[in-house]
Amino acid sequence: MYHLPLFMLLVTMSLVAVHGQSTTVCTDSRIMHRFVTIDYEWPNRTAKDSAIANEEYIVNNNIISGMKVYDGNVYVTVPRWRRGVPSTLNKIVASNGESILQAFPSWEMQKIGDCRALQYVQSMEIDPNTGWMWIIDTGRINFFAADGTTTQNLCPAKIIVYDIKNMVEVTRYVFPNEVADRQITFLNDIVIQYVNDESRYAYISDALAFRMVVYDRLLNTSHYFSHPASMEPESGNGNITILGETLPVSAGINGMALSKDMQYVYYGPVSGLSLYQVPTSVASQPGGNFAGSVRKVGNKPSQAAGMAYSKNDNLYFPALGENAIYRWDIKLDMTLQNTDISNVEMNALTRVLQDDQCMVFVDILNFNNDGSLWFSVNKLNKFLLTSIDFTGSSGANVLIWKVPIGETGYLDRRAATTVPPVTDDGINGASTTSGQGLVAFTFLTFAMSLVLTRRS
Ligand SMILES: *[C@@H]1O[C@H](CO)[C@@H](O)[C@H](O)[C@H]1NC(C)=O
Ligand SMILES: *[C@@H]1O[C@H](CO)[C@@H](O)[C@H](O)[C@H]1NC(C)=O
Ligand SMILES: *[C@@H]1O[C@H](CO)[C@@H](O)[C@H](O)[C@H]1NC(C)=O
Repeated sequence: MYHLPLFMLLVTMSLVAVHGQSTTVCTDSRIMHRFVTIDYEWPNRTAKDSAIANEEYIVNNNIISGMKVYDGNVYVTVPRWRRGVPSTLNKIVASNGESILQAFPSWEMQKIGDCRALQYVQSMEIDPNTGWMWIIDTGRINFFAADGTTTQNLCPAKIIVYDIKNMVEVTRYVFPNEVADRQITFLNDIVIQYVNDESRYAYISDALAFRMVVYDRLLNTSHYFSHPASMEPESGNGNITILGETLPVSAGINGMALSKDMQYVYYGPVSGLSLYQVPTSVASQPGGNFAGSVRKVGNKPSQAAGMAYSKNDNLYFPALGENAIYRWDIKLDMTLQNTDISNVEMNALTRVLQDDQCMVFVDILNFNNDGSLWFSVNKLNKFLLTSIDFTGSSGANVLIWKVPIGETGYLDRRAATTVPPVTDDGINGASTTSGQGLVAFTFLTFAMSLVLTRRS
């Protein structure tokens, strides 16, 4: 009987410790990388110190946004929304057990003001068949400054196709001002279309000029479409409220996806709920009847930035207001509605993952050829509202998740896909705890709390 009070005391203390410690959250084994702040692999300590001294590196202005996975490596972008971002395109590497960023393809390619180098990269696409990375560079920096400093329209926007396997540039193209206006462009997201077994067209969202920009790699040309009804911010739907904090966003066409049959481009404004579809037969050619070919397929449950289309015709996208990821099962809806992809409406939605602590602002999603869904989480709402906590006492700010989901992406062109079977928790919610899981969770919490109690 003497043991009981001691035991209860331990439990009470441990509960206090658990709730007071951010180290106990986001320990899911599917989280591959965690960052409180973003640091880089510098040539040497002097280089880092001088970058901090001359404000080429302002630690708290760096946040990861774009993310793509290829051959076991994770490539990420750090958008130059604000000053002090030393490298805008990177690969995650490990250093003393911490995840840090290595400038990709090199430090030389990150030089601000050198128009041969990268100025501002939000997104890139990686073709899993060739290992070519399609990099979009807006050319402008500091356009979401929080310190009153002015935007710098340094270079024209460009696209670079880079062969990761051989570390050589395949081609590059500079967008003419008529297509990507040097004063306002913001190249945001990109998808690639194959034609006759060759990657050919890139469809790119311009979130501030409200355009869809199209690049034809074979002809080395570009054109754009403007369609205000589907590309401008949706009136009344620009407030993104996450856990009671509201971020007013006034940006247009943002996330892009392409159907695996390469027949349709999907897009929608980040300030909005609508999802639209347009045939690639129209969008790939200049001068087509874009307005007459756009179709709204439905409303998302909440706003979202990125999207990812799978080889099985499922479309995955975040619901920012719910800290969740949804899947639209397009084939199921075609069956239920007895119709085809050009008429089907978005109804069959499943919330596949949800977590109020570890999925705050799911930004970019993509598949790896091994059947896993990867996504970046970055508390971007708090970063933009400058309410983000970089001290570490609120836990990690950027998380990179890898969830086995049994699907590969729209670009996977292998004939017979060899995808590992879905694991038990692959599809279910990050927050789902029940039955044996709950017992295990409780035990784990208790065990960890003991460790924490001892430490403190
Ligand atoms: C540190 O790296 C910079 C940039 O590569 C180089 O110029 C400098 O010589 C290096 N300094 C030392 C002490 O190695
Ligand atoms: C493509 O066009 C660009 C203009 O942006 C030009 O500099 C480049 O040489 C062209 N590339 C090819 C392969 O013709
Ligand atoms: C946010 O909500 C307020 C109040 O309802 C409204 O006036 C404003 O236009 C909204 N902002 C956006 C960007 O939608």
